[in-house]
Amino acid sequence: MRTVFWDYENHQLKMIDQRRLPGALEVYSCQTCEETANAIRNMLVRGAPAIGACAAFGLALAAHQSTATNLEGILADLENAKSVLLISRPTAVNLAWSLNRVMGVTKGYKGSVAELRALILLKAQEIADEDVIINQRMAEIGAELIDDGDTIIHHCNTGALATVDWGTALGVIRFAHEQGKRIHLLVDETRPRLQGSRLTAWELEQYGIPYEIISDNMAGYFLKSGSVNKVMFGADRVAANGDVANKIGTYMLALAANDNSVPVYAVVPISTVDSSLENGDMIPIEERPQEEVLDIYVNGERVTPVGARARNPAFDVTPNRLITAIVTEKGVVYPPFERNLLEVLK
Ligand code: MRU
Repeated sequence: MRTVFWDYENHQLKMIDQRRLPGALEVYSCQTCEETANAIRNMLVRGAPAIGACAAFGLALAAHQSTATNLEGILADLENAKSVLLISRPTAVNLAWSLNRVMGVTKGYKGSVAELRALILLKAQEIADEDVIINQRMAEIGAELIDDGDTIIHHCNTGALATVDWGTALGVIRFAHEQGKRIHLLVDETRPRLQGSRLTAWELEQYGIPYEIISDNMAGYFLKSGSVNKVMFGADRVAANGDVANKIGTYMLALAANDNSVPVYAVVPISTVDSSLENGDMIPIEERPQEEVLDIYVNGERVTPVGARARNPAFDVTPNRLITAIVTEKGVVYPPFERNLLEVLK
């Protein structure tokens, strides 16, 4: 099943409700662009490529919802929808990338309103289908970096759930596992939303890949012990110089890996590279509600005292010097990223 897909019978956007996993596998339906933006904001759907595909279908919903009878009217409705979707989550550049790509079909368009509606949906579907092919290509390329017997630390969820299907970093690991390589995964639980222990562990159960969950602050211990061969994660935005914005905690993980000479790989579709940003300091970092950090319950009791305050940046930026290589659908990119990423983008 795809994480995000279009229901052609009912003209609805459907997605796996990731808030319910691993307890229940439920499908949520969006009928409007606003519902889609809310689903992204509230993380029913999350992961950079999945968000991108979802936003593209959000525009298809807006086109379908629009009551405009002329081109001017529907274009205004689409621009409005684009701005609603664009602000739903700020860090993953795939969101803006896919919205711009869908809106590209309106440039110089002179046909009928009905035809434009169909074209928008076609483009959104194309983005979703391409995502699966790109992930499978990255998986083939990236699996070459994995050796039989590797123990890998993985951060957040980068699997089928974070994309339309298959996954980025977890897709590489899954491919290597299917090639028969014996892999053991240490799954960072990924505080505060626990994408690792909830979603990655759930996916690994389906694929039969051996794993153990570790709390994020255990990664340094395992890296220093010499028992970890690689660190692998995805990205929400990569600057032109190869600085990588990814789920909070990635930077600390990469630091500890470098201190112990363990290679660090980011698996990233080209759509996640933002060549308009010179370096990672320019990447907007989403700050989410403090309740995500504070609302922890143990034995039915809230852990944090009444009145406690928290900070909750959802992403951090790992400087390019800590990244061994970036796996893309066009090949593995090594430093100097300033030059080699640009080469791949051409
Ligand atoms: O806040 P999330 O769960 O959307 O963050 C997701 C990540 O940080 C992933 O690692 C990233 O999107 C790359 S995986 C496709």
